[in-house]
Amino acid sequence: MGDQLKGRTVFITGSGGVLGSTYVRRMLDQGARVVASDLPGHRAEALQAAHEGNENFRFYELDVGEEAAVEEIFKRIMGDGWEPNVVLNNAAITGEMLMGKGKSFPDFCDTTVEDFEKTLHTNLTGAFMVARQMDRDIVGRYPSTLINVASMYALNGAHHPIYDGMPFKNFSAYGVSKAGIHGLTVWLAGYWAKRNATVNTISPGAVFNGHSEEFQRRVGELIMQGRMAQPDEIADVMLFLASAQAGHMTGQMVNVDGGFSAW
Ligand SMILES: NC(=O)c1ccc[n+]([C@@H]2O[C@H](COP(=O)([O-])OP(=O)(O)OC[C@H]3O[C@@H](n4cnc5c(N)ncnc54)[C@H](O)[C@@H]3O)[C@@H](O)[C@H]2O)c1
Repeated sequence: MGDQLKGRTVFITGSGGVLGSTYVRRMLDQGARVVASDLPGHRAEALQAAHEGNENFRFYELDVGEEAAVEEIFKRIMGDGWEPNVVLNNAAITGEMLMGKGKSFPDFCDTTVEDFEKTLHTNLTGAFMVARQMDRDIVGRYPSTLINVASMYALNGAHHPIYDGMPFKNFSAYGVSKAGIHGLTVWLAGYWAKRNATVNTISPGAVFNGHSEEFQRRVGELIMQGRMAQPDEIADVMLFLASAQAGHMTGQMVNVDGGFSAW
């Protein structure tokens, strides 16, 4: 327990995933009030069960791809008496979510426009809509910060051979959407600078989530530290970006990738 985030009310999209749920737990531990959101389903249920009864935790169902729902979200939260001063664009479609569990992922030449656009719609247009609503409802009313989540594959290409024979693949729309989200960061940084709002990107590296020994070995060879990250190691940096101590940072991409991007 600590007070690094005392006075912060953090709104997080896609909060039920491996990283989102870690941010929620760690932010609550540091004195934040946390407004979590996600699609309905088992992740959302598990997250709510984990924090049931915690007076600093709220949960709202939110599909970031639904424009009307995004347009209402801050009014709903504020109507319930909470004013988010940290917004975290964390929701994203992964390959498995796009194709369905156990279904093989198509090669680039067979990727449909529909799947490409669906990924961009959630990962990029969804982030834009949340940021736009923050602009309408929060920015300029009180100091605030937006954190966009990119990836080690935002500004660096994916290393395709490490996915050979793996049950999951890296797919084109993912990296494209993550490069785009940093574009949103740098665009907004200047646009909001005089209205007391900051915006930064965090780019997590490869995060361990039960991957096989073989995959860990392959990806580990691409990382200076030689290993995948634990979710808490990404959360350590996320806590700083969400804290008042990051007040003079804006328009930056922070890589938390064990040196992957520095080679
Ligand atoms: N895990 C990694 O190795 C890694 C690496 C780099 C970047 N990231 C990024 O970190 C973020 C969190 O990743 P994670 O590993 O926790 O992924 P995850 O798949 O475990 O969680 C993603 C969450 O987003 C939610 N989501 C998907 N579509 C949504 C929508 N339309 N509306 C609202 N929520 C939606 C899912 O329900 C899920 O809870 C993502 O932006 C991801 O791209 C993860």
